[in-house]
Amino acid sequence: MLDIQKIRADFPILSEKVNGKPLVYFDNGATSQKPQVVIDAIAKYYQEINANIHRGVHTLSQLATDAYEISRVKIQHHINAKFSHEVLFTSGTTHGINLVTNGFASILKPGDEVMVSSLEHHSNIVPWQMLCEKTGATLKVIPMNEEGELIIEAYDALLSEKTKVVTVNHISNALGIINPIKYMIEKAHAVGAAVLIDGAQAVPHLKPDVQDLDCDFYAFSGHKMCGPTGTGILYGKEEWLNKLPPYQGGGEMIKEVTFEKTTYADLPHKFEAGTPNIAGGIVLGTAVDYLNHIGFHNIHQHETHLLQHATKRLLEIEGLKIYGTGKNKASVISFNIDGIHPYDIGSIIDKLGIAVRTGHHCAQPIMNFFCIPGTIRASFSFYNTKEEIDIMVEAIKKAKAMLS
Ligand code: ALA
Repeated sequence: MLDIQKIRADFPILSEKVNGKPLVYFDNGATSQKPQVVIDAIAKYYQEINANIHRGVHTLSQLATDAYEISRVKIQHHINAKFSHEVLFTSGTTHGINLVTNGFASILKPGDEVMVSSLEHHSNIVPWQMLCEKTGATLKVIPMNEEGELIIEAYDALLSEKTKVVTVNHISNALGIINPIKYMIEKAHAVGAAVLIDGAQAVPHLKPDVQDLDCDFYAFSGHKMCGPTGTGILYGKEEWLNKLPPYQGGGEMIKEVTFEKTTYADLPHKFEAGTPNIAGGIVLGTAVDYLNHIGFHNIHQHETHLLQHATKRLLEIEGLKIYGTGKNKASVISFNIDGIHPYDIGSIIDKLGIAVRTGHHCAQPIMNFFCIPGTIRASFSFYNTKEEIDIMVEAIKKAKAMLS
């Protein structure tokens, strides 16, 4: 079992007060809090080795380059990528997805199909729509059921030799549903389609194994997994990364430049134009070390207890409805209270120090499916406690009484 109080002491913000009340932070789906080791590592980088990477012969540049590349290898091992050059540093999941859709613009033709799921975040819908507009490909949508699960028989039926790419999130940000991605990847490959997994909401809760999943791309953000904002990773299979054209042109991504012709650098640099977020990339490795030190098995166990406790306690509230009732779920609960706008509940409980997200969670198609303007979303992390959940439940009861 985890010593939660000891873990909480690693996160300075968790002992802050908000609106005069102890902070209860349940907006982990939007971004996680940062442990002191991560905060310190950012300062340490700027204090001790700040220099540009892959450019200088001088000592600091070498030190910064080594730290950046060590972090890449750490992340390679964390996600079990075959090669470190399959691990691209990005500014976040959105960047990773756009890098891939940009690449597919030179591959797709009219008549080809791109399949997205109905559980996607806007960042895994809009870039594919833009790609379809550019190429004449058609966007197909995998439908969902009332439990917030993808209808897998419908997915199987939609797949054909026209399907060139399938894109789906590992875990839905709005509902917390965990998708059967291994099965979906296998089925997509059987018709020759490539698969991108949006792992943004998965990486705080589990350790993805990209070789076992056999996905072609896996994109995620650092800031949801205790790392700094503006960091992320795009994993891509070597053969795909070699096939796709560069996303951005600039320094660092070239082999040789003349006015007649430019040749591109080898992987991963072909996709890493310009000076990156060096401190962020290095410190993402620190965050990965921190999470592995806590242990994903322990994280899973604790978060499962939190999810069960919160589900039970919230359902005590009359008129409360949970969206995303499928069996396979991460520690995320989306809900509404009959006749009350989610924003009103969110604003009142904020005054009591409780941070939840309200609204459409950048997943408007899900809200349209349920015919609601949005939900209140409580997303839990391994540093949250059952006591905090009880505080939220009492606060919601109070808010409900005020608003009814
Ligand atoms: N995608 C993030 C969320 O779900 C911001 O809140």
